[in-house]
Amino acid sequence: CEDPRVHDIKTKIRVVPNFPKPGIMFQDITTLLLDPKAFKDTVDLFVERYKGKNISVVAGVEARGFIFGPPIALAIGAKFVPLRKPRKLPGEVIREEYVLEYGTDCLEMHIGAVEAGERALVVDDLIATGGTLCAAMNLLEHVGAEVVECACVIELPDLKSTAIRTIKLFSAGSAIG
Ligand code: PRP
Repeated sequence: CEDPRVHDIKTKIRVVPNFPKPGIMFQDITTLLLDPKAFKDTVDLFVERYKGKNISVVAGVEARGFIFGPPIALAIGAKFVPLRKPRKLPGEVIREEYVLEYGTDCLEMHIGAVEAGERALVVDDLIATGGTLCAAMNLLEHVGAEVVECACVIELPDLKSTAIRTIKLFSAGSAIG
């Protein structure tokens, strides 16, 4: 049976039809953030799963991975590394392009932020096609880190996957039961 915390988390996520464009059902986690208990429960579900797993890096995907990643990193004693959209990071970066519905986008990571052999967790709010998480995994693996798992709050049905590789995924919405 489902963890009552998971049920509560799901009820706090607002679905906004036709945002940002017609036909998109936007999953809005800002309403979850307004509820301190539900926000903490979300973080706790991840912390319970990853504490003691020898993870030294939590890599958060811009933008909403910057909300859930840092509290998880602090609680499990890992560093936080932001994976950013192009031309936001001031230092030397490596970049990974990925395919969107129309065109491509890109994630960048500071060189030197993660070292070879480190165990990493990737955090984002949502997986749809998986293209974003694939790019994140590729960045970390490019510098020799091991991606233990990708963690997200919401897992959408994979309508049109662009993911060209397997993603080890844990989503809080389907965490238990
Ligand atoms: C959303 C979401 C994920 C990504 C998932 O970000 O926060 O990062 O899409 O989609 P995918 O699995 O199909 O790759 P968005 O592109 O809206 O960027 P933003 O967080 O910067 O607004």
